[in-house]
Amino acid sequence: MPRVLRMRALACVALLSHFAIGSAKAGSPDPQEFPQIERGRYLSVLSDCGGCHTVPGGKPFAGGRAIETPFGNIVSPNVTPDLETGIGAWSDEQFDAAVRKGIGRTGAHLYPAMPYNAYTRMSRDDVMAIRAYLNSLEPVRQTRDANTLPFPFNIRSVMVVWNALYFRAGEYKPDLAKSAEWNRGKFIVDGPAHCGACHTPKTRLGGDRTDQYMQGANLQGWSAPDITNAKGTGLGNWTDGDIALYLKSGHNRITAATGPMAEAVELSTSKMTDRDRIAIATYLKSVPGQENASGPAPIDTKVMAAGGAIYRDQCSACHAIDGKGVPHLFPSLADSSMVRALDSTTGIRMVLRGARSVGTKDEPTAPGMPSYAWQLDDRQVADVLSFVRNSWGGAAAPVDPGDVARVRSQTAMRND
Ligand code: HEC
Ligand code: HEC
Ligand code: HEC
Repeated sequence: MPRVLRMRALACVALLSHFAIGSAKAGSPDPQEFPQIERGRYLSVLSDCGGCHTVPGGKPFAGGRAIETPFGNIVSPNVTPDLETGIGAWSDEQFDAAVRKGIGRTGAHLYPAMPYNAYTRMSRDDVMAIRAYLNSLEPVRQTRDANTLPFPFNIRSVMVVWNALYFRAGEYKPDLAKSAEWNRGKFIVDGPAHCGACHTPKTRLGGDRTDQYMQGANLQGWSAPDITNAKGTGLGNWTDGDIALYLKSGHNRITAATGPMAEAVELSTSKMTDRDRIAIATYLKSVPGQENASGPAPIDTKVMAAGGAIYRDQCSACHAIDGKGVPHLFPSLADSSMVRALDSTTGIRMVLRGARSVGTKDEPTAPGMPSYAWQLDDRQVADVLSFVRNSWGGAAAPVDPGDVARVRSQTAMRND
C-alpha cells in the first residue's frame, strides 16, 4: 500500500440521506442506540476520511500521513477527539467550516488536498453525523509535523485566489428529472467519495478542468483513467454490474485495481452497500465523455512485430495469446480501457514495477504481476505496450520510449 497518497487537488459534489437522524450522546457507537454515530461512520467510509488521516498501520484518524500534491507534501492533521492535538475542543461551526468550506479553526484556509470542494456537497447534518462518529473514537495525542509546501504555496492566503477560481460551495441539489438512484450515485461520486479528485484532469494550479469531467487525469506517477461512458477510452464497454463488482472486490472480468485505486477500493468502495455501488454505476454510465471519432494513425509494423515477440515470450503465459487473460485473475488486456488510455502512465508503471492488486473480503488473495524494469529497456517496454494497445481490435497511439524513461525515473525511488 502506498505510504504517500498521490492526489491532485480536488473536484466537486453531494446529499440525500437515507438514514434517520438520532440524538447522539457520547458513548459506545451501538448502531441501534446511536443512529447518528452509525450514519456518521458510514459517511466517513463513503468519504474515506480515514485513508488520509491515518498513517498506514498507525492509530486511526490521528493524522501524520503525507499527502502528495503537485506542489509538495501536505501532512494530514489529527482528527480524533483529543482536546489539545485533535478536534475535541472545536465547535460544531468550526468543524463544519473545515469540512465543507476549507476554513481551519483559526480562520486560515486549508489546502484542497483536504477535499472540501467535494465535501461541500454534503449537508450540515451529514457533517455533524461524521463529527458524532469521530467524537465516539478514542482520543489520540499526536501533533503534526510542519507542511512542506514550497513557496508561494506555503502561504495559505494564496488559497483565497484558488477558491475564487475553483471552489463552488453548496449542498448537492437533486435533479428531479432523474431517478433517486441516479441522484444518490451523483451525490456519492461528486461529494463524499470525491472520485473527481483523481479522475478529473487538473489545471496547472490543481483546479478541476470541469469541461473534461471524469475524463482521466495524471497523478504523480499514476494515471487515473477516463470513467465516463465513452466507448474507446472510458467505461463504454463495462456493464453496471462490471462497475459495481470492481468497486466491491477490486476485480472484474476486465481489469484489476492497483495503486491509489486499490486503496480507494480497500478503504472505501468495498465497504459501501451494494445499493450505493449500483447507484454509482448507474450514474457513471450516464456521463457522456468524449468519443474520439478520428482515431489514431496506423502503427509502425516494426513496432508491432517487436512488441508482439516480447508479448508472446513474457506476457502471454498470464494474459493469454488472445489478450483475454483469465477472468478475475489476470486482466483482459484485450478489453481493458486503461490499457488504451490516452495517458499510458499506469500501464507503463505496471510493466516496470509489477503490481499486486487489492485483497478484499470477497477475494482475499490477489494475484501478482512481475516487474520488468531490469529485463526490458525503455524501447522494449514501449513496443510491447504499443502492441497491446493495437491488438485484438483495439487502436491507440503508440507509447513513446521517452514516456517510459519519465515513468522509470518518477517511480524508481519510491518504495510502493
Ligand atoms: C485526500 C486526503 C484527505 C481526505 C480524504 C480527508 N482529509 Fe481532512 N485533511 C487532509 C489534509 C491534507 C488536511 C490539512 C490541510 C491543510 O493543512 O491545509 C486536512 C484537514 C482536515 C481538518 C482540519 C484539521 C486541522 O487541524 O486543521 C479536518 C477537521 C478534516 N481534515 C476532517 C476530515 C474529514 C471529516 C474527512 C472525511 C469527511 C476528511 N478530512 C477527509 C486530507 C484529507
Ligand atoms: C486517490 C485517487 C483515486 C480516487 C479517489 C478514485 N480513483 Fe478510480 N482510479 C484511480 C487510478 C490511479 C486508477 C487506475 C488504476 C488501475 O487501473 O489499476 C483508477 C481506476 C478506476 C477504474 C477502472 C477504470 C479502467 O478503465 O480500468 C474505475 C471504474 C474507477 N477508478 C472508479 C472510481 C470511482 C467510482 C471513484 C470514486 C468512488 C474513484 N475511482 C476514486 C485513482 C482514484
Ligand atoms: C505472472 C503473471 C503475469 C505476467 C507474466 C504478466 N502479467 Fe500483466 N498482470 C498480471 C496481473 C495479476 C495483473 C493485475 C495486477 C493488478 O492490477 O494489481 C496484471 C496487470 C497488467 C496490466 C494492467 C491491466 C489492467 O487493466 O489493470 C497491464 C497493462 C499488463 N499487466 C501488461 C503486461 C505485460 C505487457 C506483460 C509482459 C511484459 C505482463 N503484463 C506480464 C499478471 C501478469
